[in-house]
Amino acid sequence: MVNLNAKYQDLLRYIENKAPFIPELSIILGSGLGNFAERITIVAELNSGEIPGYPLSTVEGHSGKIYFGEYSGKKIIIFKGRFHFYEGYTLSQCVLPVFITYKLGCRKLLITNAAGSSNPGYKPGDLMLVSSVNGINIKKELTELTGLASPEGKDGMLRFPSPELNSLIRKAADDESISLREGVYWYNKGPSYETPAEVRMANIFGADAVGMSTVHEAIYSAYLGINTSIISCITNYGSGITGQKLNHEEVIETAALISTRFENLVKKIISGLGS
Ligand code: HPA
Repeated sequence: MVNLNAKYQDLLRYIENKAPFIPELSIILGSGLGNFAERITIVAELNSGEIPGYPLSTVEGHSGKIYFGEYSGKKIIIFKGRFHFYEGYTLSQCVLPVFITYKLGCRKLLITNAAGSSNPGYKPGDLMLVSSVNGINIKKELTELTGLASPEGKDGMLRFPSPELNSLIRKAADDESISLREGVYWYNKGPSYETPAEVRMANIFGADAVGMSTVHEAIYSAYLGINTSIISCITNYGSGITGQKLNHEEVIETAALISTRFENLVKKIISGLGS
């Protein structure tokens, strides 16, 4: 089992020294929410290069940053520039934002991502609250990280997704008149998109969306006892659903189109914290 405490001593000391507060909510930004830090009041900002042991992002335009900020009187931490397993990071590097969240004493985490729909009823532009995940592709690595084979907290309680945080998210969506889908997110290690047969399989197995991140973050987070929820931004139909070729530009374009709605939803979620 990997000992993150030992491995990331210097990193933790650095971040704990710089942290201006204990955040009430941690947010991992995915596509569609990438500029969210601009919507809040930033109190402190750390660049990945200055944090000892923090990986540097390999994806262009995905500069790694950690923001401490405030919105509606609530204190939040934001992780921008996600580490994907397919980029060659170890799983312990991929879950660092979760680990930092935990070590700072924050016990609420909202994970966001872009995903393709494997459910033909879910269309590009939809936002989906995740009800469960399929991480079968990454079980071995996860077990090395947690020593467990299931998303259970240290006390054995299944904690994902957080019922309280999910309720808050549904209420926020309601208040903002944003229609929110709910469904299962299926993990593909990537980096290539799924084949049409894989999307069909995901659908038959009950998945509504497919993507290449999030699941390890969520399972590790639940294992640590953090209240964890996920919102997926559906950016495209999964491969084979429409017969059109998938492309990364479509994902970026749709994410940009959804971003205002997504940001409004997250702002409302933050406002509702603790009420
Ligand atoms: N598949 C996997 N990951 C994705 C997709 C997809 O269709 N869209 C955005 N991220």
